[in-house]
Amino acid sequence: MSELHTDERREEEIRQGESELYPPPQHVLETAHVSAEDYARYRKEGTENPVKFWEDRAREMVDWFEPWEKAFDDSNAPFYKWFVGAKTNIVYNALDRHVKTWRRNKIALIWEGEPGDRRVFSYYRLWQEVNRFANILKGMGVKKGDRVTIYMGRVPELPIAMLATAKIGAIHSVVYGGFSVEALAERIQDAQSKVLITADGGWMRGKIVRLKDIADEAVKRSPVVEQMIVVKRTGHEVNMEVGRDFWLHELQQLPIANGTCETEVMDAEDPLFILYTSGTTGKPKGVLHTHGGYQVGIATTLKWAFDLKDEDRWWCAADPGWITGHSYIVYGPLILGVTSFMYEGAPNYPYPDRWWRMIEHYGISVLYTAPTAIRGLMRFGDAWPKRHDLSSLRLLGTVGEPINPEAWRWYYRVIGGERCPIIDTWWQTETGNFMITPLPVTPLKPGSATFPFPGIVADVVRDNGEPADPGEDGYLVIKHPWPGMARTIYGDPDRYVRQYWSKFAEQKWYLTGDSARKDEDGYFWIIGRMDDVIKVAGYRLGTAEIESALVSHPAVAEAAVIGVPDEVKGNVIYAYVILQAGYEAKPELEDELKKHVRHELGPIAVPAKIEVVDKLPKTRSGKIMRRVLRAKAMGQPVGDLSTLAD
Ligand code: PRX
Repeated sequence: MSELHTDERREEEIRQGESELYPPPQHVLETAHVSAEDYARYRKEGTENPVKFWEDRAREMVDWFEPWEKAFDDSNAPFYKWFVGAKTNIVYNALDRHVKTWRRNKIALIWEGEPGDRRVFSYYRLWQEVNRFANILKGMGVKKGDRVTIYMGRVPELPIAMLATAKIGAIHSVVYGGFSVEALAERIQDAQSKVLITADGGWMRGKIVRLKDIADEAVKRSPVVEQMIVVKRTGHEVNMEVGRDFWLHELQQLPIANGTCETEVMDAEDPLFILYTSGTTGKPKGVLHTHGGYQVGIATTLKWAFDLKDEDRWWCAADPGWITGHSYIVYGPLILGVTSFMYEGAPNYPYPDRWWRMIEHYGISVLYTAPTAIRGLMRFGDAWPKRHDLSSLRLLGTVGEPINPEAWRWYYRVIGGERCPIIDTWWQTETGNFMITPLPVTPLKPGSATFPFPGIVADVVRDNGEPADPGEDGYLVIKHPWPGMARTIYGDPDRYVRQYWSKFAEQKWYLTGDSARKDEDGYFWIIGRMDDVIKVAGYRLGTAEIESALVSHPAVAEAAVIGVPDEVKGNVIYAYVILQAGYEAKPELEDELKKHVRHELGPIAVPAKIEVVDKLPKTRSGKIMRRVLRAKAMGQPVGDLSTLAD
């Protein structure tokens, strides 16, 4: 864990945002699920007795096959359990229960492909597709507890595959379609998946991403995969290995695909999915979530924070391959019976008004995206959104990194027409659901995620655990467990304890890895990661992964990677490399190394700059001093060098 640092840029943002206050608009006060009075009451009750609070929500938000014997079990801390003894399956709540009601005919999902093709699924149709897919998986021998890796673009088959896997009690591990060979191979290997679900390709910026080729190469490195299901999306020629690879559309014709597939009865604490994310050191870790508590967490937070109603059209513009997509594209909206929209491609393709065009066309009422996307689209100017009627929007949201007040105001004014509160949600892969977020009735300050969600006990503390003063930076911690929390790191429970529960072990607080501060009014201001995680365009990357990708190139002996502030992406990656003997620093080499990282990890991990150096600043114990590299990259004084080895 590195020292508490306040980045100057964020300091200035907080100074600006603190002095502004945006009260909730009248339409919100009149119609929101949670009124200002209820909100105050829930916050109080949820802090005083979080277990009771979540137990009430568990009864209200979802159905159970059998009730729990105990709502919360802390006998084996920090391996907490929720709703112990209850029987459920998240897919029952997301689909099965809806097809027994009028909702069977409601639209569950509207999808638009980048080339402009469209598909619409009613709840009934989606349920049918999931049944078919689940039958196929069963037919391939996938059983309860088996891991299934899913690697695809943003097409409807991605949520369908996830739901099908969960329906039969297997565990999905979705790998974001923007990752590449080594990232995929490593995740398949760690999860020991025998089945991989992928597509021939995906559309992105008018080009085909050759997913199947990447999958083939990854499987060569991780030969545990025995069967591959391939979705035909782009239709280009791909290699299909006889006996291993099967087209989904052909499998769907088989008699075994027909009929209803029974939903597996799961224990509340049975695993639902593994999702890999970057940590402080080493390989990405498989964050594990379960059926019971997770569904309660996501349904409650989505319903209250985004106030979703039957007449809404919800667009979470994330990718299903990240936690935002798992919780708020796939499971959350379906549990609530909401109509969702999903789009395959790039926001500015073929023109910078693609998103605004779709909001107008589909009448989107709530949009949830990342600050990077907002800043990226803001750059093209107001004329593009102004060309469209965006009056269907009533709420906006953001996630993934701190939002700067300038982007916040633009989003509020130009996109939201000054009538849509901005719901800035702070949370993590590990937390499963929103943790610090306004509700629509919360008065907003641009750049602040405002207050902990009811039932979440968050605080900012000093190194010794004392509460930080208003305006003082500290560790963001969660002081009481919550139902949606990760249960462990797959296959590495020690790392789970070490990473999240050891810093404040005595107090039994969860360490988020972020620094934050509270202002005089109690508003939370997230500052950023305190560890070696870099947020690039909202994506979470670990320095270790990128460094090991660089070192896997024959020319590189050693590498160090840092995040450097960037206007649009929040941060970009700078890499410093020491070359192997016999290699020379040439401009072509930088390009080659970038290409290599793209091939191994994917485009999101490619450094903006790679510089060859003779030495790297290290402490005497051999730890790279990233602070020194960061100062160098930004042309600032390097500060105290007394711990430098050389
Ligand atoms: O640093 C925080 C930042 O994203 C990290 C979690 O990343 P990930 O697990 O990929 O999940 C992202 C989507 C939930 C956090 O530790 N972060 C997330 N949301 C915000 C944020 N930083 C500031 N404001 C936010 N709203």
